[in-house]
Amino acid sequence: MTTSSSEQGVSLGMPQLPAPGYPDDVRARLERDAREIIARYPDSRSALLPMLHLVQSEEGHVTRTGMRFCADVLGLTTAEVTAVATFYTMYRRGPSGDYQVGVCTNTLCAVMGGDAIFSALQEHLGVGNGGTTDDGKVTLEHIECNAACDYAPVVMVNWEFFDNQTVESAKRLVDDLRAGAPVEPTRGAPLCTFKETARILAGFPDERPGAVEASGSAGPASLIGLRLAKGETPAPRVVHPRDAAATGEPPRGAPHDPSPTEHLSSHDAPQDTAASDPAHPAKPTAEEGE
Ligand code: FES
Repeated sequence: MTTSSSEQGVSLGMPQLPAPGYPDDVRARLERDAREIIARYPDSRSALLPMLHLVQSEEGHVTRTGMRFCADVLGLTTAEVTAVATFYTMYRRGPSGDYQVGVCTNTLCAVMGGDAIFSALQEHLGVGNGGTTDDGKVTLEHIECNAACDYAPVVMVNWEFFDNQTVESAKRLVDDLRAGAPVEPTRGAPLCTFKETARILAGFPDERPGAVEASGSAGPASLIGLRLAKGETPAPRVVHPRDAAATGEPPRGAPHDPSPTEHLSSHDAPQDTAASDPAHPAKPTAEEGE
């Protein structure tokens, strides 16, 4: 029995054929973008990470064509580019959805409901970790801590925050994403598609309305510790974002002036502990202060 040369190549682990190139117009556009990225660095090879985001913004994942392009413009080997692209989980190696829904399953989020949310979404969407829904809208994955533990459990959609999620709110979130309904992150910049996010991560201007104003804004839960350290009480109330409309709470960003007796939220245990235990104030002990 004989085999074709292509079959032999696969079965014997022969090198793959060279990656196809981009169409001329796409390559010309990407080369303009690449020159802008490379100009930020004293050494062109330092531009590899944003370059990988750039090619990811073109096709939604890092293809062999994209890696070949990066190698060409940066003077690297494809092996060097591949080694980096396969090391970082932010670079996708296969087609994925418009919306990357990441459920934090690190320790705090997990015990606060992240594991239950991830399990429920797998069943609700009919996909496993890294799987994409048939309509190409949502890719589900579990993610590591995003330094938003004070809003646990946290779900990230294309790296925008959806705080204090529940199983039901997370299901509504993915349903809305798949239906094309308006979806607003709890805080920070507005939501955009995965390709658009990749272009922003490549370092190009974030032109989403309100994105610049929203960047760097700390939410109430993150400020509780600071207020306690200053001896200020009460801290702002934490409002569950996805249930806000149903409970008549003010919209995100609206000024809030809690009354002195208002219960803050189920996430305010640290404040109660410090405020109600004068024997252990939130400041250094005498020994620590010496
Ligand atoms: S453990 Fe989930 S954001 Fe830190």
